[in-house]
Amino acid sequence: MSLRLSRFVGHRGIAAEAPENTLTGFRLAAEAGFSWVEFDVMLSADDVPVLHHDETLGRTNNGSGPVAAHTLSALKTLDAGAWFGPGFAGERIPTFAEAISCCRALGLSMNVEIKPTKGREVHTAELVSDMLNDLCPDLTDRIIVSSFVPGCLRIAQEKAPDFLRGYLSDSMAEGWREGAEELGCFSVHPNHARLDADLIAAIQEAGFRILTYTVNDPERAASLIGWGVDAVITDEPLAAAALA
Ligand code: G3P
Ligand code: MG
Repeated sequence: MSLRLSRFVGHRGIAAEAPENTLTGFRLAAEAGFSWVEFDVMLSADDVPVLHHDETLGRTNNGSGPVAAHTLSALKTLDAGAWFGPGFAGERIPTFAEAISCCRALGLSMNVEIKPTKGREVHTAELVSDMLNDLCPDLTDRIIVSSFVPGCLRIAQEKAPDFLRGYLSDSMAEGWREGAEELGCFSVHPNHARLDADLIAAIQEAGFRILTYTVNDPERAASLIGWGVDAVITDEPLAAAALA
């Protein structure tokens, strides 16, 4: 498999410029020059994978209460854009299927982060895996599935083995290497605050590519890339800045 990574991955679309995890965010990311975007996937109450970061509604829309307690039709009544700016009013929470077809149309590669709500880890990973198999059999070279939850990556490994996996870690605590190896990961996705040249070298020596989050400072991005990081996941249009 020949996967073409880009140095910059738009975080939750392009979170500094558009409401996160929305189709408008993907469009603006593509317009800013990104060829990859990251987004978060969890389940509605009626088991539809949707794009949302927090377990509860409210920060990024006009809802309240747990995402997992709302059906898709209830989630679809919410405004997921007005909080960010009046020009984004009327934006809806996208389904995973809508995100796939939007990214496909825009030519964007996808870092699909499985972000299950508590207790729904297995089912979320199963449904995401099924949808990848059904909707994206031709996109195995343009998708990385990542998660902070090793059990989700285990299910992706079993059910959607054709798709590459990324081992997300905030702490990079001891055991990351064994964890990523056991899950047959392609890449490790550390919090950039944990990274230095030595750890980057260790990850590379272990055979993994490195996508690090969330890097919004161009100088930090340049240092990380200089040390050998493959990609920085960023809220900002750093890609455009780098090309300028
Ligand atoms: O996938 C990278 C990054 O999105 C992980 O953290 O909390 O922003 O989903 P978070
Ligand atoms: Mg994420």
